[in-house]
Amino acid sequence: MTIPQTYRRLVLIGFRACGKSNIARRIAEDLGWKVYSLDAMLEEQFGEPIAQYVQKYGWQEFRQAELGIAQSLQDTMECVLDCGGGIVEQSQAIDSLREHSFIVHVTADIETIIQRLERKQNRPLLSGATIRDDVVSNYTRRQPLYEQYAHATVDTTHASKDDSAKQVLAILRTLDLSSSSL
Ligand code: S3P
Repeated sequence: MTIPQTYRRLVLIGFRACGKSNIARRIAEDLGWKVYSLDAMLEEQFGEPIAQYVQKYGWQEFRQAELGIAQSLQDTMECVLDCGGGIVEQSQAIDSLREHSFIVHVTADIETIIQRLERKQNRPLLSGATIRDDVVSNYTRRQPLYEQYAHATVDTTHASKDDSAKQVLAILRTLDLSSSSL
């Protein structure tokens, strides 16, 4: 993949429960950049948890709101964007965040994701009847989409959040992302 010349922000994409939010916070702290969690911004806008919102209004409404939040961040630089797992479902949403962005795909293997989601059952199901069904039907379909947009991939299956963040920072340092020349 061709790496663009300049980056002024970092965008984390990837499936649920891969550690994006934790990694985003750690990296932002290290770079002295702001961190924006699109999910947290949506919950603030909804005035309720995503699960509750989706139960009331459905996924289509959620995606529309997610697109609005993504577009509102289009020109915000010097930041780390922690995107919800479905950001790649709408090309318009991810496209609005691509300019000047270094995009990292945060991933984990499918069984690890299922175990993590089963331990912490706070996310609304996407399409399946169980967490396992849900992950199986969406993970394989989405992986090529994440890869299509990402400049780099970090696998958190066997790595701690700290180590994963360090791995991303090491990649960024090779690009000199935080230098003033950007
Ligand atoms: C979603 C992932 C969630 C959240 C919403 C939809 C998805 O974010 O945006 O439940 O489509 O995979 P996380 O990836 O932070 O769990």
